[in-house]
Amino acid sequence: MQEWLGGALALGLALLWLLAAPSIRKYISGGKCTSTAKLNGKVVVITGANTGIGKETARDLAGRGARVILACRDMEKAEAAANEIRTKTGNQQVIAKKLDLADTKSIREFAENFLKEEKELHILINNAGVLLCPYSKTVDGFEMQFAVNHFGTRVTANALHPGSIVSELGRHLTILIFLGKLLTFFLKTPQEGAQTSVYCAVAEELESVSGKYFSDCKPAYVWPQGCDDETAKKLWDVSCELLGIQWD
Ligand SMILES: NC(=O)c1ccc[n+]([C@@H]2O[C@H](COP(=O)([O-])OP(=O)(O)OC[C@H]3O[C@@H](n4cnc5c(N)ncnc54)[C@H](OP(=O)(O)O)[C@@H]3O)[C@@H](O)[C@H]2O)c1
Repeated sequence: MQEWLGGALALGLALLWLLAAPSIRKYISGGKCTSTAKLNGKVVVITGANTGIGKETARDLAGRGARVILACRDMEKAEAAANEIRTKTGNQQVIAKKLDLADTKSIREFAENFLKEEKELHILINNAGVLLCPYSKTVDGFEMQFAVNHFGTRVTANALHPGSIVSELGRHLTILIFLGKLLTFFLKTPQEGAQTSVYCAVAEELESVSGKYFSDCKPAYVWPQGCDDETAKKLWDVSCELLGIQWD
């Protein structure tokens, strides 16, 4: 009797899971950018676009007709991603350019070449980032994660959180790689994770919106610490000082 009950319970749970799984997946996948905006004639730069969220964002925007520049540190991976996106979208205006955000010389060179080669920049997506990388210093002497995620990236118009995504972000921590594999079902795919980046880049209603924070393709809550103008100014001043930038 007990065995029979146990079997029935297991079967019931399995059935419940089968029925609920599509709804759970839909919930986890989060907001979707529904804009059908075309980007022909627009120039887009996406940092760290050779993999993960950046690559999916690049693929989406290339599919809308934009000229997309993948700004990456590893040119082999960048060329492979550009080639893949060109093949998938049929857009030949997808190009890879060298940019190492851990090196201010590389950032300046990228910017100088961009100014020489392109007439305008319509969309900049500061996507590249690292998580819990081993302690090391950049060629400029800054701690690696702070340099890449803050100096290299965080001067921005709108900001966003993409959700929790299966990507290479956890590559520096074995436990994160293991959890990523174990919990794949409960994490967004890179394509799902790219939706808010795409939304912020193309949504007509955001054309004149700046300085806001988004998640799941809609405005998101910002903790009071994130709205503190005094702290923001202090961070800006310290950053300019460390980078030797004069800002009038
Ligand atoms: N995945 C998540 O759950 C999650 C959650 C919150 C926020 N985010 C943010 O979303 C962004 C994209 O993350 P992801 O999940 O797509 O991670 P990912 O798969 O690890 O991609 C990160 C990208 O950044 C590039 N990058 C790292 N250091 C760089 C440097 N010094 N110069 C230039 N490019 C560099 C990487 O290039 P290489 O391949 O050459 O290393 C890669 O293309 C990151 O800013 C991350 O912090 C992700």
